[in-house]
Amino acid sequence: MKSLFSRNFLWGVATAAYQVEGAVREGNRGLSIWDTFSHTPGRTYMGHTGDVACNHYHLYLHDIALMSQIGVNAYRFSIAWPRIIPDGSGPTNPAGVDWYSRLVDALLEVGITPVATLYHWDLPQTLEERGGWRNRETADYFADYAARVVDLLGDRVYLWITLNEPQVVAEAGHLSGIHAPGIRDRQAAITASHVLNLAHAKAVTAMRAINRNNNFKVGITLNLSKVYPADPTNPDDVLSAEFVDARSNGWYLEPVFNKRYPEQVLERYASNFLLPRLDTGDFDILSPPIDFLGINNYTRIVVRAVKPGEPWKCETVRPTGSTYTEMGWEVAPDGLRDILLQVHEKYHPREIMVTENGAAFDDRIDNDGKVNDDKRVEYLRSYIASAAEAIKAGVPLTGYFVWSFLDNFEWQHGYSKRFGIVYVDYRTQRRIIKKSGYWYQKWIASLK
Ligand code: FCB
Repeated sequence: MKSLFSRNFLWGVATAAYQVEGAVREGNRGLSIWDTFSHTPGRTYMGHTGDVACNHYHLYLHDIALMSQIGVNAYRFSIAWPRIIPDGSGPTNPAGVDWYSRLVDALLEVGITPVATLYHWDLPQTLEERGGWRNRETADYFADYAARVVDLLGDRVYLWITLNEPQVVAEAGHLSGIHAPGIRDRQAAITASHVLNLAHAKAVTAMRAINRNNNFKVGITLNLSKVYPADPTNPDDVLSAEFVDARSNGWYLEPVFNKRYPEQVLERYASNFLLPRLDTGDFDILSPPIDFLGINNYTRIVVRAVKPGEPWKCETVRPTGSTYTEMGWEVAPDGLRDILLQVHEKYHPREIMVTENGAAFDDRIDNDGKVNDDKRVEYLRSYIASAAEAIKAGVPLTGYFVWSFLDNFEWQHGYSKRFGIVYVDYRTQRRIIKKSGYWYQKWIASLK
């Protein structure tokens, strides 16, 4: 299996700005929708906020030393838009650029490849007040920001990701409202999804225009899960699985690759008088070529039809006999291989990277001071084995990133869910490499 991973395969860890940086009032950073949301009573677990988080803003050199110790050759982090352009549009903030510049230099110095995500959910609050992702202008502001960052850091950062998980931004942010900005409105969610898709496309085009020699690679990260019918011999379950796949995966894949939305989902929305606000010309803007697709994968989806003839009427089932993580997500490693294969066969991305994979478990420090997260070791081992099967079947997989490097601020769950391969004691900011971190270290070393 080891020989399936090429010599220059990226073995990385991932984080996101608001989840780890802290220092929210330093370096002239503007406010983001997550500052507002987490400071609104009742929105996050015990009122937790990202004000301090892992203090990565100050401890980044120490953290990079830990990454080196583990032996990763890539670090996926996100750039906070409100650090670079505090009001979302307007002047660039030199202090913000400087911090990321130092981060990047420190990574390069120890041979770790920086992989920068331009949007991991921290929209400048000023833009939210002008309609946020429901406002088409936000797509233009994002493209402008993306081009500026590539202009400033593109001499040292070669791998770029436009958006992280637009589906979660649209749905958790605007439909269920469990994420910032906390809106619950079906039309708002669909509009936001389209503006996000436009934002990605416009950013790619703007980035290529500013960096004319094109010595960088750009992609997008989508959260994709394989959808299975509860009973594969039941045609109604099969139709429901197809519908859910089109609604949750296809709705984001089609505009990235094929300048369109899945027909059956458009029809379904239209029959409810819900549609993205499409302008003539939008479809020409969508789908500029990308260099790689990022996939975040944690679990699978299993669906059962509820009303024959109406595939959208279905429910998700929780298979019995499976292991579930602290998030309540089923551990389903085959789902990673299957979604990789599906995307490869349907869309043929030039390269694919697993930009997030990992699990939350109830980690504790044992009496000997160690964190023996055996369940996470088993989780990572089984998913990496599944990724290897996908490569064997022809998937051009070029990287894999564990979510997460550190325990961190898990959005509405605050600090109650631990995803790290490095434990964080939030009272002292002490880091302890977990057993899974040592396992990853050994795994990477064994490939050399
Ligand atoms: C993904 C997010 C990431 C983290 C993991 C657990 O959806 O991209 O920030 O919250 O889930």
